[in-house]
Amino acid sequence: MTMYEIIKKKRDGHELTKEEIEFFVEGYTNGTIPDYQASALLMAIYFNKMNKRETADLTTAMVNSGEIIDLSAIEGIKVDKHSTGGVGDTTTLILGPIVAAAGVPVAKMSGRGLGHTGGTIDKLESFKGFSVDMSIEDFIKNVSERKIAIGGQTADLAPADKKLYALRDVTATVDNISLIAGSIMSKKIASGADAIVLDVKTGSGAFMKTEDDAFELAKEMVDIGTHVGRNTIGVITDMDQPLGFAVGNILEVKEAIDTLRGEGPEDLTELCLTLGSHMLVLGKKAENVEEARKILEDIIKTGKGLEKLKELVIAQGGDASCIDNPELFETPAIIEPVLSEAEGYVEGIEAESIGRAALLLGAGRETKESKIDLSVGVVLHKKIGDFVKKGEAIATIYANNPDKQKQAEEVILKAYTFKAEKVEKRKLIKGIVTKDGITKF
Ligand code: URA
Ligand code: CA
Repeated sequence: MTMYEIIKKKRDGHELTKEEIEFFVEGYTNGTIPDYQASALLMAIYFNKMNKRETADLTTAMVNSGEIIDLSAIEGIKVDKHSTGGVGDTTTLILGPIVAAAGVPVAKMSGRGLGHTGGTIDKLESFKGFSVDMSIEDFIKNVSERKIAIGGQTADLAPADKKLYALRDVTATVDNISLIAGSIMSKKIASGADAIVLDVKTGSGAFMKTEDDAFELAKEMVDIGTHVGRNTIGVITDMDQPLGFAVGNILEVKEAIDTLRGEGPEDLTELCLTLGSHMLVLGKKAENVEEARKILEDIIKTGKGLEKLKELVIAQGGDASCIDNPELFETPAIIEPVLSEAEGYVEGIEAESIGRAALLLGAGRETKESKIDLSVGVVLHKKIGDFVKKGEAIATIYANNPDKQKQAEEVILKAYTFKAEKVEKRKLIKGIVTKDGITKF
């Protein structure tokens, strides 16, 4: 077998065998196959696609390229959640505690990553002293005792994907459904999940700009999960405007606390209840999503979710006093409203631009070395469908630098579009994909 033959076979539109796919993934990971041959194969895959079997084999080969975390010592069905990403997405900080409070073990390996705001770990570091440093044994012990722990990604998970994703990024081969699905699923499978709930975002602030593409990606990931014996469900959700109101680290943590108190934004609450319900069903803590939803609503109402967050923060060395006293969180020097120059119903909010404003203020990382300012960001006051008067505040900027505040203000003003006629609120949950098929709402 040679790499030349494999490239030629895919170039000519043929199906690759499992052995050929393994040869490629192993060879590329250990450096015997050079970037130029890997690039050529990726481009051939981009044009000629891969079928379900090839995609599942690619995923499995990437899983096997590194460590596979063994969570079997933890009792119960470990259900993981993955979001394809968006702006102001605070779901983990809410979902983790409510699902754990319902008895589903949450063994979450999170990252920092690049983006408009920090990752889950950065956000949790809003609690002074919070740390994800622990041995895998302590991680497993924490999940067993408390049903929840958040660890850092220390293990070498799917190194083949890491290398291939970086190569795809510079060779215009990211946008292929099989390659994206394999990339995401390889990391989830390697991190030890028994079952997986995927939140696949669609819209201006998402990776998948159209609904059709989002459904296709979800279907592909569900098929991979099913193929490798992991019960997987995809929920297609709107990311045409930021989720909730807050975009920033401490700001999103505060929003998560509000939501755990039952006082959160409607869309964020609804998304967490929907994703959480599927997690409870997959984790066999409820018969169906209706029953699961009632359990989760009760957990929020009785404050058990908030208690679980406190327990998590304290267990990992953090100061949980700001959960009851949010005024103890660090605040930035400048807190200024953004006043609308127009009047009418909000027709659209470019999610990507609001994210960029938060990044400009210092809420996220542009490079791996960037330092995050946990206190800065944007809180929106108006969402799609709301009426705005001229001079009314559409958002508040939290900043530590006046020049950046001005720049962010301009970006936010441009992100909003208005219309004189009434605008319908957007539908948040667009559909569900399971191994049995697709349901569109
Ligand atoms: N996210 C991933 O992890 N991989 C992709 O290929 C695209 C998005
Ligand atoms: Ca938010």
